[in-house]
Amino acid sequence: MKPIYFPEPFRIKAVEPLKMTTKEERVKKIKEAHYNLFNLASEDVYIDLLTDSGTGAMSSDQWAGVMKGDESYAGAVGAKNVVNTAKDILGFEFVQPVHQGRAAEKIVMPILLKGKKYAISNMHFDTTRAHVELAGARAIDCVIPEALDTGLKLDFKGNMDNKRLVKLIEELGADNIGVIIITVTNNSAGGQPVSIENIRETKKIADKHKIPVLIDAARYAENAYFIKIREKEFKDKSILEIVHEMFSYGEYFTMSAKKDGIVNMGGLMGTRNAKAFELMKIGCISYEGFTTYGGMSGRDLEALAIGLREGVDENFLRYRIGQMQYLAARLEEAGIAYQSPAGGHAIFVDAKRLLPHIPYNEYPAQSLCIELYIEAGIRGCDIGSYMLGNCPDTKKQLKSDFEFSRLCLPRRVYTQAHLDVIADALINIKGRASKIKGYKIVEEPPILRHFSAKLKPL
Ligand code: F0G
Repeated sequence: MKPIYFPEPFRIKAVEPLKMTTKEERVKKIKEAHYNLFNLASEDVYIDLLTDSGTGAMSSDQWAGVMKGDESYAGAVGAKNVVNTAKDILGFEFVQPVHQGRAAEKIVMPILLKGKKYAISNMHFDTTRAHVELAGARAIDCVIPEALDTGLKLDFKGNMDNKRLVKLIEELGADNIGVIIITVTNNSAGGQPVSIENIRETKKIADKHKIPVLIDAARYAENAYFIKIREKEFKDKSILEIVHEMFSYGEYFTMSAKKDGIVNMGGLMGTRNAKAFELMKIGCISYEGFTTYGGMSGRDLEALAIGLREGVDENFLRYRIGQMQYLAARLEEAGIAYQSPAGGHAIFVDAKRLLPHIPYNEYPAQSLCIELYIEAGIRGCDIGSYMLGNCPDTKKQLKSDFEFSRLCLPRRVYTQAHLDVIADALINIKGRASKIKGYKIVEEPPILRHFSAKLKPL
């Protein structure tokens, strides 16, 4: 299969040297880290694919913007630039910067879920779920069932299951549902896009039952690019036109700007409802800071105003998605299973299929991440039973639908040669897959254990 590849629309102006380690050193480091990749020092990692959040490279324009940052407490220019840029790109009337996505969730969820019992989403990201629950409601995922079949190639595998959504509303009662959240792209299902056709249908259902729609917009630009190349109606539309249309179906949005905003720290929230905006501003002042900085430095606001524009550039997005497609094509050629087709920000390797002899309670995806580190200094993370944890009632290990090793690509950071190192490492691991063993947990905290648990090879 001939790889599809779109080269970088930039050249490199500043470099960050990486330490090169030997396999023997990495075997020692991962043992010292108790086989938990979160315990590794980042300087001991060669290619860091733990997340694409806040790990992108800023442009020379953004760095110039940093110098221009206005650090005034009130009336700062940076916030005005961010708000005007976001209004222009997203077509939202009221926009407030905050320091990251979960800060927006912390403020918006209690407003939408006051006196309500449920939030329904195509899929909640972990922090979104946490803030729904902290607001006293339950988070229900409603992604199309096809998303669970990693081998099935579908254009919009992140879509909401609208038929099930209708049933859920009937069962739970529309009055009990505070919000319908559309996460674009659908991170937890593998960075899979959501189509406008699907969003329109969701919005129609929500309107019928008078339930507000919130767009979790962390990777909205990647989603818009997928719509352009996969949804016929939009092939001649610009990314900006598609983004406008996508956001037109939401009354609210929250955004982690650390992804498609291409900044190391930042977030946004917005609404079309003036009353709700007053509450959002009060939340911002209490938790984040005055409205003209929203928990951010003036220099970071300036970088965000510029990053938002760069993130919707079609040449950038073609290169960005092209990186994912290049890596996916190499894995395809080598017969390595992943959530296919490749999503927008990461390759989710299907560890269940690469290491079928390791059962879920010996953590195949974690095991594969450890092998990737030992093989080539690559750091990914487990999105599977290891991350899911134990049942709070029985204390028994839960079985996840997926056993993914998530390999996120930071924006504008790694080159095609790095992508080849990732593919070659996976191919080498596949060659010795049957000899790879699972792990057991020897120490774990009661919640969010994957960040700090200690493991031992079996
Ligand atoms: N929503 C989605 C879809 C996300 O992927 C994230 C973060 C957030 C909200 C929260 O944003 O981190 O700025 O507070 N995802 C990162 C990840 C952490 O690695 O996927 P935040």
